[in-house]
Amino acid sequence: MNIAVFASGNGTNLQALIDAEAGGGLSPGKIVLVVSDKAGAFALERAKKAGIETRVIEANGMPREEYDKKVMSEIKDKNVDLIVLAGFMRILSSNFVKQYNERILNIHPALLPAFKGTHGIKDAFEAGVEVTGVTVHFVNEELDAGPIILQEEVPIEKGDTLETLEEKIHAVEHRLYPKAVKLFAEGKLKIEGEKVRIRS
Ligand code: GRF
Repeated sequence: MNIAVFASGNGTNLQALIDAEAGGGLSPGKIVLVVSDKAGAFALERAKKAGIETRVIEANGMPREEYDKKVMSEIKDKNVDLIVLAGFMRILSSNFVKQYNERILNIHPALLPAFKGTHGIKDAFEAGVEVTGVTVHFVNEELDAGPIILQEEVPIEKGDTLETLEEKIHAVEHRLYPKAVKLFAEGKLKIEGEKVRIRS
């Protein structure tokens, strides 16, 4: 079960996946490639340190379809079974999503369908909700939509600042994402309409 992780930034979720794999926590999944659209992404350093192959594919104003074709041709020879988006700051074309239908996962730092978009944590904090959380979902052609695999609540407490909330959210992400990836790798996820059933 070959996994490609796509990341644009710090890569703490990638790190959580790398650490999980080292402890058998993604089995039978194996991260074979890390793709980034940013040459300076720290995620690339994390991958290299773990001995994982990396590809930097920069967009430089390239149209989305063209960029995605390039990515697809780069990952083809790695026989990728699953794509894990971990802070990848690009929207995938519908062609790409169709090509890897039901084989792309994303993590979002809020309880979808609430607080979609790039500032899920801040938006929830500023909205004054009492509970936010983390969502792992299959990617479809809509932004931050797609069948939900796992969700976990994170309460926003009185003394929380945006920073403390971010820390809490990330801690949950780092636990939830490897769990979801392992379930996929074990073939335990079944999409039924809009929902995901987890086989025991
Ligand atoms: C995470 O908060 C994730 O939910 C969102 O992007 C962030 C990536 O963080 N999609 P990192 O690069 O994994 O540290």
